Amino acid sequence: MRSHLLNDTTAEQYRRSVTDGVERVAAKLAATERPFTGVSVDALAPRIDEIDLDQPLHDTTAVLDELEDVYLRDAIYFHHPRYLAHLNCPVVIPAVLGEAVLSAVNSSLDTWDQSAGGTLIERKLIDWTTERIGLGPAADGVFTSGGTQSNLQALLLAREESKTDSLAKLRIFASEVSHFSVKKSAKLLGLGQDAVVSIPVDHDKRMQTVALARELERCAKDGLVPMAVVATAGTTDFGSIDPLPEIAELCEQFGTWMHVDAAYGCGLLASLKHRDRLAGIERADSVTVDYHKSFFQPVSSSAVLVRDAATLRHATYHAEYLNPRRMVQERIPNQVDKSLQTTRRFDALKLWMTLRTMGADGIGQLFDEVCELAREGWQLLAADPRFDVVVEPSLSTLVFRYIPASVTDPAEIDRANLYARKALFASGDAIVAGTKVAGRHYLKFTLLNPETQASDIAAVLDLIAGHAEQYLGESLDRAS
Ligand SMILES: Cc1ncc(COP(=O)(O)O)c(C=O)c1O
Repeated sequence: MRSHLLNDTTAEQYRRSVTDGVERVAAKLAATERPFTGVSVDALAPRIDEIDLDQPLHDTTAVLDELEDVYLRDAIYFHHPRYLAHLNCPVVIPAVLGEAVLSAVNSSLDTWDQSAGGTLIERKLIDWTTERIGLGPAADGVFTSGGTQSNLQALLLAREESKTDSLAKLRIFASEVSHFSVKKSAKLLGLGQDAVVSIPVDHDKRMQTVALARELERCAKDGLVPMAVVATAGTTDFGSIDPLPEIAELCEQFGTWMHVDAAYGCGLLASLKHRDRLAGIERADSVTVDYHKSFFQPVSSSAVLVRDAATLRHATYHAEYLNPRRMVQERIPNQVDKSLQTTRRFDALKLWMTLRTMGADGIGQLFDEVCELAREGWQLLAADPRFDVVVEPSLSTLVFRYIPASVTDPAEIDRANLYARKALFASGDAIVAGTKVAGRHYLKFTLLNPETQASDIAAVLDLIAGHAEQYLGESLDRAS
């Protein structure tokens, strides 16, 4: 069994095994014609169920053969130009190389004595990000597992900084289209059920600051504590960016922590054309960035950044066995002092490899391309009488709905759109997402692949229309 341990004696086997795996994935990526095979749960589950985990195959070649059957063949491939669903990006090769290196070396970023250079690399990337945001000289932050955790940590710091005697009095203000992790965080932080005040959005799905001001005033009048305003820079559905400068003004006026959830919009930090859309982000107390959304990084890669490094102390605990207090005086950099996690992946290496290979401009260029593609998609949709499209994109999503010429019943239109999404998924020809707007079912393209062309968008719209029409035809048959 020791032959499977990666060490000085098995370096050659490591090289062969990993190369074999890489070869197979490379062949798969090259041959993938559709983003998905359309396999059903019922067809796939038995293949996984029948594998006896107590009967190992002993040989990685055999395991890779089996993996083809249980995973690789039917995986969802984000690199395919017709994967248009969620906030998943195709990944850049330097980051994948970083992933291979970091898992083999297996540094853990909790303490200096488990990572050495890894800690310094992560710190440099945090500084790089806070500088891009403009958070000022006292800024700091830490890599996290994703936007959900980054938002949680930011709101934890906000809660602690609010210095209230009663959690029940705390209020968080976030737009009605903010990410659900804000509500989840409030629950995890022990706040009351009414803690998150939902602020309406305008026509462009941006937080209405007049409504925010009204709610902040009401909060003060009611003797409650405005713990934080969460501004979203790139909402999950619409890519809309809340008016950050106005929100910053209100936060200052009411003495409230300003958190910017830029999980999606952070790609603009590297943009060559649209960095100005994030104006005001530099006034935040904390910011969430998900490199695994708009920096073309593999999952996971995210960070929470703060204006004042001292606020990270709310996540600090010392243990004799890991990070004793004296290490702070000795200036030993232990990232665990800033993190909710203990053992932690060296995800930062992927971003490091990316920036050292492509530079920030390279990433920004790719993100600009998908924003341009979304603009072209918007023009296609706006000119197509078969579709209703919701907002002009600020980033790279399009929310729309098929509107059949022959049907006026909104519930039937809902069903046609739901059917079209499902049928498209089952065909594997393309994958799109769905959401609700004003209680009605809509479809969504999240465009994060620069390889996707306007012609792909047009072709997928035709497929959607075809499936929806098929549903409506069958529905008519059923009724007659
Ligand atoms: C605006 C926003 N914030 C936070 C998140 C959560 O990020 P993660 O999925 O990385 O936890 C998402 C995910 O889509 C998001 O769109």
